[in-house]
Amino acid sequence: MKGIIFTEFLEMVENHFSAEVADQIIELNDLDSKGAYTSVGNYNKEELVKLITSLSACVNLPITVLLKEYGKYLLSRFVIYYPYFFKDLTNTFDFLDTIDRHVHVEVKKLYSNAELPSFQTKRLSRTQMQMFYQSSNPFALLADGLIEGAANHFGENIHVDSDISDNHQVATFTLTLVG
Ligand code: HEM
Repeated sequence: MKGIIFTEFLEMVENHFSAEVADQIIELNDLDSKGAYTSVGNYNKEELVKLITSLSACVNLPITVLLKEYGKYLLSRFVIYYPYFFKDLTNTFDFLDTIDRHVHVEVKKLYSNAELPSFQTKRLSRTQMQMFYQSSNPFALLADGLIEGAANHFGENIHVDSDISDNHQVATFTLTLVG
């Protein structure tokens, strides 16, 4: 998994909790990387699972809550790193339609070893859309947070109803634009 996913995760831990907590979750685990991530490196995705599991124990919050919060944070960081994926778009549904057929395609061109999920989208009406997540990774809740982060970015009030499989590798998100 790309280093940016790890560097941003540790930065979120430092910002939302503290630098001590970030150090602690690294020390609690026997990581091949020793927690020394660079944004362009590649690391075992199991390390992210270990770090989140330790964070959950340290700060006494469920993994589900933390992973979703991280998704929201990560989207706000993507806006800064990759502004061109947001330019020309004015709403969440149109942006989410571009992830599978444009954004992740470009990510794959940049980093050929990236392991990306597949997303299908379906418009149900002007105010409702569905996103179907499928991945070899158990990160459906990260997707949930990224979707909510996108709604925040576009200043829209969107209710997300998530139907996530037990292994977190398959999910259906039903999005409703409220108000
Ligand atoms: C500008 C927007 C985005 C960029 C630049 C981006 C880029 C990336 C990158 C670099 C990875 C890591 C891949 C790897 O290391 O193997 C990733 C993974 C992922 N992306 Fe995106 N992404 C964007 C938006 C989104 C959005 C809006 C969603 C959800 C709807 C999403 C869902 C995911 C998920 C869930 C993963 C984790 C891997 C997996 O579950 O298989 N991404 N993305």
